[in-house]
Amino acid sequence: MDKLVIEGGVRLKGEVVVSGSKNSVLPIMAATLLTDQTCVIKGVPNLRDTNTMLKILRSLGKNTEFYKGTVTVSATKHANFTADYKLVSTMRASFCVLGPLLGKLKKAKVSLPGGCVIGLRPVDLHLKGIESLGADISIESGYVVAKAARLRGKHIYLGGVYGSSVLATGNVMMAAVLAQGKTIIEAAACEPEVADLAELLNKMGARIKGEGTPTIEIDGVKELRGVTHTIIPDRIEAGTFMIAALITKGDILIKNALAQHQGALLDKLDEAGALISKGDNCLRVRARGRIKPINVTTLPYPGFPTDMQAQIMSLMAVTPGISVITEKIYPDRFMHVAELNRMGAHIQREGPHAIVEGIKSLSGAPVMASDLRASASLVLAGLVAKGRTSVSRIYHLERGYENIESKLQGLGAKIWREKE
Ligand code: EPU
Repeated sequence: MDKLVIEGGVRLKGEVVVSGSKNSVLPIMAATLLTDQTCVIKGVPNLRDTNTMLKILRSLGKNTEFYKGTVTVSATKHANFTADYKLVSTMRASFCVLGPLLGKLKKAKVSLPGGCVIGLRPVDLHLKGIESLGADISIESGYVVAKAARLRGKHIYLGGVYGSSVLATGNVMMAAVLAQGKTIIEAAACEPEVADLAELLNKMGARIKGEGTPTIEIDGVKELRGVTHTIIPDRIEAGTFMIAALITKGDILIKNALAQHQGALLDKLDEAGALISKGDNCLRVRARGRIKPINVTTLPYPGFPTDMQAQIMSLMAVTPGISVITEKIYPDRFMHVAELNRMGAHIQREGPHAIVEGIKSLSGAPVMASDLRASASLVLAGLVAKGRTSVSRIYHLERGYENIESKLQGLGAKIWREKE
């Protein structure tokens, strides 16, 4: 296992290019199961998660090729409808093969993913939506077994205790595109990644309207064709570099970043005192003066993303004053708090709130990554801490950030990889 070692205190300056969106590409790769024709997906980040999804597609009978950011998926003669526990348990997003397998093959057996470190993460909304389309669902030995002679369009309310669900919306949408008649998904997730999936499906011949809004309408079609599609930029990676600029008092031009996907984050960073210039598919971020403490509450899109909560907490940890960070999507997503406190931060957790008493500086320490975004927050803290920080278990980081250390090195950071 590798760890990342960071010598803090360098102001990051220069340009960085953001990769394609992890959370967009994973369901999009699953959508290739809806056709026997060849699909070409461009702008695919080389991540642990995208490689896991390629393995799943191969296990389901697809040929896959991944070369220089382009994934090509084609059919073999051996379509399989079982997604194995070993693969699904390593990555929850693999559960979204359920909808396309059922839509195309009318049967699917997909392992239940189980919980993960950021919380319980149930799949009840996925199952509710798919059952509404007429599938028989049973749970057998840890697997969801879904069957349907034919799927029929339905009016489905998909809101849950924590609001809408990104992958459940995608899963149900993918099952509904080949259903008979009209499906309406109410309380659909509005995230840009859902809209990207709908755009891909429409290019494949689906008839989807309303993507990006809480009401999605799908007119079922008989079959889908092959497609070529480029993935949208990763808004969370872009956001992580924005925080890197501010936390190090640097100046970063972030290329392949779309301001229209970053409304809530840009608003909060502006409130904190960031100077942000928007260009054509790029954003330049630096500080206007001293960064100020701000309160942040995570919410479904277009609210502040939960996937940026840990990173903004690192920024607030070194911003003198009090800020309150409230997590409304995953109430237990606070594994980074204890590790930031190991670096000298003053953060207290009270239920879904973290009360951050910002201090002038953190001190480098050995810390342990627990999940993807927590890892990113520890790297950010390490960039500004006095002395040396080592972040162990960086395989979490490799799930979602392509070439993170070389991108940071390109901005001047003193960061390198060592064996644990
Ligand atoms: N939920 C339910 N029932 C369900 C599904 C979800 O109660 O059937 C709850 C969840 O437990 C959570 C809330 O609804 O409290 C929202 O979860 P959602 O389903 O939207 O999450 P997801 O689709 O499983 C995606 C991203 C996550 C991101 C969330 C929220 C992918 C592959 N993952 O997960 O990304 O945090 O949406 O935006 O798209 C990450 O990239 O680090 C990451 C965790």
